[in-house]
Amino acid sequence: MQKLTRRYFFLGTAAATLPARPKSTKSAANKVVLALIGAGGRGDDLAQKLQRVENVEFKYVCEVNDENGANTIRHLESVTGRRPKRVLDMRHTFDDPDVDGVVITTPEHWHALASVWACQAGKDAYVEKCISLTIWEGRKMIEAARKYKRVVQCGTQNRSAPYTTSAKEYIASGQLGKVLQVKVFNLLPPTGDWAPLEPLQDRAVPAGLDWDAFLGPAPNKPYNPNRIAHWEAYWDYGGGALSSDASHQLDQVRMVLGDPPHPRTIYAVGGRFSANDGREAPDTQVITYNYDDFVMTCESGTFSPYLKKFPNAVRQGDIWPTWNHHSTRVEIYGTKQIMFLGRHGAGWQAMEEDGKVVAEDAGRHPDKWHQPNFIDSIRTRSMPNSDIEQGHYSSCVVHLGNLAYRAGNEHLVFDGKKERFDNNDWANNHLKPAYRKHYRVPEQV
Ligand SMILES: NC(=O)c1ccc[n+]([C@@H]2O[C@H](COP(=O)([O-])OP(=O)(O)OC[C@H]3O[C@@H](n4cnc5c(N)ncnc54)[C@H](O)[C@@H]3O)[C@@H](O)[C@H]2O)c1
Repeated sequence: MQKLTRRYFFLGTAAATLPARPKSTKSAANKVVLALIGAGGRGDDLAQKLQRVENVEFKYVCEVNDENGANTIRHLESVTGRRPKRVLDMRHTFDDPDVDGVVITTPEHWHALASVWACQAGKDAYVEKCISLTIWEGRKMIEAARKYKRVVQCGTQNRSAPYTTSAKEYIASGQLGKVLQVKVFNLLPPTGDWAPLEPLQDRAVPAGLDWDAFLGPAPNKPYNPNRIAHWEAYWDYGGGALSSDASHQLDQVRMVLGDPPHPRTIYAVGGRFSANDGREAPDTQVITYNYDDFVMTCESGTFSPYLKKFPNAVRQGDIWPTWNHHSTRVEIYGTKQIMFLGRHGAGWQAMEEDGKVVAEDAGRHPDKWHQPNFIDSIRTRSMPNSDIEQGHYSSCVVHLGNLAYRAGNEHLVFDGKKERFDNNDWANNHLKPAYRKHYRVPEQV
């Protein structure tokens, strides 16, 4: 069996460099000053990870929810002894010349506007997946990053895992044969974030929350605890499990396949079959993406208690999972071999008939490379491992799948060059959100 030695080399387009940042004269060894925008579950975790990178300081925590803001400030202070300043409006962080970069961990409806504002202010940005709410927004984010020469790293951390690169090299070597079919699974249990909801009445905004600022670019709607606690299941703020979870595998598989551009046609079926609890995003969704020379399916759901994500022992060790028992696996079918691939450190194995393993690379969780890579890129003006351009193409896979489902299980034909549909006005009308006044991503960034 061919064993691949783990190689911890610098990933991505390392040779491509961004010109020196216009608004700063800081040298590589100097402190990098950051602001966190959105201190919920991911923001709190990510800030602590970034804080552990040498010579990084969080000057601000921007939060619209008092409790979440105070929580993260306490956590950061316990690591460094320094207390970041709390602000309610992210624009304060953009106005401060000390700030080198911002970390955008709000819900998805804020990602594009926050990133464009950050680039316009001369800040670098780390923006969580899905990087945008719609297809048009992602294109504007690329334009802003390029125009203002900013580092924009996406929160698709699997791109920083050495085993994702070794999988890509294995496929490129031709040993799998020609890849004709790809199956992406994201079949989650109906527990935790995806447990059935009790429908709740709209009500007065609680003390300690700026609901209007939470809504930002999204339509004005009354406060409802489910809308905020489960924002990812409402189209105004997110793209369901496909966006909040499957997006990782969809991005990782794009990378190992050599980053194919947009698919030509997309077809999706599904619905809310298990619990009609007011969520808008489906609990069952099967999407077919037709690329020029291969077909990819994504099976996404939130109803299957018998499938689990890869356990930590697999993510952090040289242990192989029984692939078909896991909810977030990818299967890549070549004309000679099949590859099983897992996100977040689960590694990959290539097999011939009867499950005979012929090559493999055990993974490690990519976070330990991904966050330091953002700081390195700020200091060296290098392209980050998960640059906004591929972040956009990967997010579009999510948006295309959701638009095909929401358009009524229509077979959509997409013109990847124009980033418009050839055959569906409804879908074209949803390429861009209907922004509220004062919260618009501009046509000209
Ligand atoms: N890369 C990963 O592995 C990973 C893991 C989890 C979540 N995420 C992503 O991180 C993002 C956040 O997810 P989460 O689970 O932390 O959600 P969350 O709801 O727990 O946190 C979002 C926070 O943003 C705050 N917020 C909203 N509008 C704001 C504004 N205008 N200014 C400042 N703060 C604002 C909210 O009050 C909340 O505290 C999502 O895009 C999600 O997909 C990525």
